[in-house]
Amino acid sequence: MSIHVASVTAPVNIATLKYWGKRDKQLNLPTNSSISVTLSQDDLRALTSVAASPTFTADRLWLNGKEEATVSNERTQACLSELRKLRQELEGKDTKLPKLSQWNLHIVSENNFPTAAGLASSAAGFAALVAAIAKLYKLEQSMSDLSRIARQGSGSACRSLFGGFVAWEMGEKQDGSDSQAVQVSTLDQWPNMKAAILVVSQAKKDTSSTTGMQLTVKTSDLFKERVAHVVPKRFIEMKGAINAKDFEKFAELTMKDSNSFHATCLDSFPPIFYMNDTSKKIIKLCHLINEFYKETIVAYTFDAGPNAVLYYLEENEGKLFAFVYHLFNKVEGWEKKYSQDQLNQFSSLFED
Ligand code: DP6
Repeated sequence: MSIHVASVTAPVNIATLKYWGKRDKQLNLPTNSSISVTLSQDDLRALTSVAASPTFTADRLWLNGKEEATVSNERTQACLSELRKLRQELEGKDTKLPKLSQWNLHIVSENNFPTAAGLASSAAGFAALVAAIAKLYKLEQSMSDLSRIARQGSGSACRSLFGGFVAWEMGEKQDGSDSQAVQVSTLDQWPNMKAAILVVSQAKKDTSSTTGMQLTVKTSDLFKERVAHVVPKRFIEMKGAINAKDFEKFAELTMKDSNSFHATCLDSFPPIFYMNDTSKKIIKLCHLINEFYKETIVAYTFDAGPNAVLYYLEENEGKLFAFVYHLFNKVEGWEKKYSQDQLNQFSSLFED
């Protein structure tokens, strides 16, 4: 029996400038460009293996050990057929190659984090799917080329094909041939940048990103202002802040953009709520921490769910987590590092 196998991992990316809105639902073309940070491979990631064999009778997909019907959905099929087309071209050029493009695929994918809880599981999932099949097919396309395919699976997936700081350029063309991800900077260029995820809830979100953004595009007036004026300016400023390693600017833009995105959700009709009371406490906490130190040491951002992602510089980890632990009461003895006066100030921050 002839069987060909390939495996890859793709990490989660967390947007610091949010993608929210499609101008073309079929091709997943966005209404604005976005920027994200791809987490390290050792953290949250999807691990995907694909096998192709002439004996397989259908394409099949297992996600976290359970067979999914997803393989027959439009988005997955769009990715598979684009990849098969590229493989076919290779097989046309070199007739000795096995005809993998004609064989069915078995795809096995596993996330090491909660699926669909606003932790960008679809991003890592589709990026890993596309990268694994491209590896199996020995495709020669660049990562940006592959990102245009992953984009059709899930918009944010296009950014997970790159590490570090990544921009998804919205493009202008109707066929989506210029709507792709590019790397802004590697993580090595800003190695002390860290992300922490505060898992507020592992529950599946009740409004999917696709449904939510469609409603926002249709009903929110605030959204029109966001895509026309707010995001284009931020896109340039954020790339500048990343290249200049200007944490204060990066943090301000990140927090403002998260708030702007959630404001357009609230401005949708009926409104969409992704954050809960704990999320709001975290926002308040971050602002209080920055005020307390008279310096911006932390930025928060929330995707389509209540879980928080905090960005900070490694040297400020202790300063930041002293507060976080205080709020969530997780660690005893943290207070020994602070004077009574400081402790009184901390406590007053949490009084209503
Ligand atoms: C809030 O990429 O999940 O995380 O293209 O419909 O699959 P689809 O949406 P998806 O939306 C992500 C929305 C976001 C912001 C972002 O990642 O930029």
